[in-house]
Amino acid sequence: MLAEKYPQEVKKILAKYPPEQKRSAVMPLLYLAQRESGYVTKEALKDIAAMLEITSTEVVSIIGFYTLFHDEKAGKYRMQVCTDLPCALRGADKFLEELCGNLGVKVGGTTADGMVTVEAVMCLAACDKAPMFQLQSADGIEYHENMTVDRTMELVEALRKSKA
Ligand code: FES
Repeated sequence: MLAEKYPQEVKKILAKYPPEQKRSAVMPLLYLAQRESGYVTKEALKDIAAMLEITSTEVVSIIGFYTLFHDEKAGKYRMQVCTDLPCALRGADKFLEELCGNLGVKVGGTTADGMVTVEAVMCLAACDKAPMFQLQSADGIEYHENMTVDRTMELVEALRKSKA
């Protein structure tokens, strides 16, 4: 239970909102739940819903909307390729397909070495710079714009080497 694991932090978060609007604490609670393992476990998700008296579906919809929240474990890096319409018009779907082929994964899958999970996401506010993706890791987020599959594979190789 989140409240048992981090009692002071949960108390501090809930204290910021009037009791009748405690549902507004969902984002900081999700952030807290995700901090440890990089994603929100099913237990934490239910826990947050119960604490805020909202449905699990509402919590899931918030996780699904924001690319910075995750409900599944991933590789060391999350490569989130925008495939929304403006990016699709600039070749994002083809880029994603070829990239997945090169990495030997399906969309949503993780490379065999556990380094990269490739995801398709909605607009990342770089619509004129597709193909583009954001790369998330414990170190933060990087944007990579106007990418090619070759340059992306070079980046992946560099990430693999930096791990060694
Ligand atoms: S549609 Fe891809 S960044 Fe906006």
